[in-house]
Amino acid sequence: MEINKVLITDAVDQACVNLLKENGIDVSCRYNLTKEELLEEISDYHGLIVRSDTKVTAAVLAAGLKLKVVGRAGAGVDNIDVQEATKRRIAVLNTPGGNAVSACELTCTLITTLARNVVQGAASLKAGRWDRKLYSGHEICGKVLGIIGLGRIGREVAIRMQAWGMKTVGYDPIVSAEEAKKFNVQFLELEEIWPIVDYITVHTPLIPETAKMINSKVLAKCKKGVKIINVARGGIVDEEALLKAIEDGRCGGAGIDVFEQEPPTSPVTLKLIQNPKVVATPHLGASTSEAQVRVAVEVAEQFIALAKRNPKYTS
Ligand code: MLT
Repeated sequence: MEINKVLITDAVDQACVNLLKENGIDVSCRYNLTKEELLEEISDYHGLIVRSDTKVTAAVLAAGLKLKVVGRAGAGVDNIDVQEATKRRIAVLNTPGGNAVSACELTCTLITTLARNVVQGAASLKAGRWDRKLYSGHEICGKVLGIIGLGRIGREVAIRMQAWGMKTVGYDPIVSAEEAKKFNVQFLELEEIWPIVDYITVHTPLIPETAKMINSKVLAKCKKGVKIINVARGGIVDEEALLKAIEDGRCGGAGIDVFEQEPPTSPVTLKLIQNPKVVATPHLGASTSEAQVRVAVEVAEQFIALAKRNPKYTS
């Protein structure tokens, strides 16, 4: 396949550029392009590599007259119009494994941080207050964690939080109860999960079946004080419903790394981020040096394999 010229439009680790160049592929890095600039630029390239900032819309794919492949240095491909790409016979590649440990570690960090009011306590001390009583938390040990999505990340979260003494229950439409048992997760139906869990963490892609999956109806079925973690994709948790549940005390707090719109601009999302019970981070799940090198190398290797038609990667 002819892949001689590749455009990278989001900050991907230099390892990707180096590897592509070492294999004779010409690479241009153009970050922060406007929609119009991208439409103009793309016409000259055989390959496009993105993270989550670039929206690879039908218009971008149509403008990519020579485009053969779009690669996502990350797991989710929701910023790429895959249907349109398929129609145009443009391959879409991702790197599902490279980020798993990093996304898992941020999830675990948010769980433990929420339990002990670490962020709120630290901010209050920096502001010159000494509020020991206000920031008293609870132990993680003995609490029940509901994991929705038992793929790579969900499993890694289960294993680590079990070491903290959490009981782990979970659901995934394509994982069996026997499989879940192998990593000590009790498989339950969603309706069985909601009333028994202290924490819910979602690790699914954003697809029609998971959009606003954590909504007001679900939150109403949960124990009072349940805490919600989303390091997966904005839109899986209904932000308006979550904010309302936090404000009325049904939900005890949330750790949110991803948003319905990024960067967030809607008043509801901004209010959610500002809520003292919310620990919000700017889509940092995959932002570690290790994960970035891994996904950069993985995406480059797949491009090279395609260029060389290596059956190890293209079969
Ligand atoms: C992913 O889908 O793996 C992450 O969202 C990647 C990223 O941070 O860009």
